[in-house]
Amino acid sequence: MMLRAVWQMLSRQETGSMHEASAMNILILYGTTEGQTRKIAQFMHDRLDDADHRVTLIDAAAAHGSLDPRAFDVVFIAASLHMERYQPAVTGFVHRHANGLSHVKAAFVSVSLAAAGHDEEDKTGLQKCVAEFARTTGWTPKTVLHVAGAFRFAQYDFFKS
Ligand SMILES: Cc1cc2nc3c(=O)[nH]c(=O)nc-3n(C[C@H](O)[C@H](O)[C@H](O)COP(=O)(O)O)c2cc1C
Repeated sequence: MMLRAVWQMLSRQETGSMHEASAMNILILYGTTEGQTRKIAQFMHDRLDDADHRVTLIDAAAAHGSLDPRAFDVVFIAASLHMERYQPAVTGFVHRHANGLSHVKAAFVSVSLAAAGHDEEDKTGLQKCVAEFARTTGWTPKTVLHVAGAFRFAQYDFFKS
């Protein structure tokens, strides 16, 4: 499902395989708090790399100041929701590069637990979080991909003795 959406981003076609698109220079910049968005970004990287694209995968927390989204054909910005907010390292980067991002083909990959369910209220909540992200960063992504995040009981403090 997600790969299909990624492929559509690259080709603007409804069908076909990723190998049909000519090689592109792709940036995947991600933020993660517990590692799930890194895994998702790595998965995207590996599939796009398999399809012979040139893919740069960067953790927003370690992004170099000179990194410029306009140097890429396609940019994926990925971040996860924590208390209805995305990672500050991602929102900071997007805020600094809002203008550049609006001049390239770019998509926002939003990772959340709300995306895992079918609750209408949760879906409305997600739209609000993305709208707030767009308002604070100044970048309104033309494409938003909602990806289901992970819920790991054992890792949460309230289950620890
Ligand atoms: C403290 C905390 C707060 C969270 N807040 C939200 C939230 O507001 N909305 C939501 O849909 N998911 C929420 N989640 C779920 C995360 O988005 C999900 O676990 C995601 O996989 C985390 O990605 P990461 O490992 O890249 O940080 C929350 C998770 C935690 C641990």
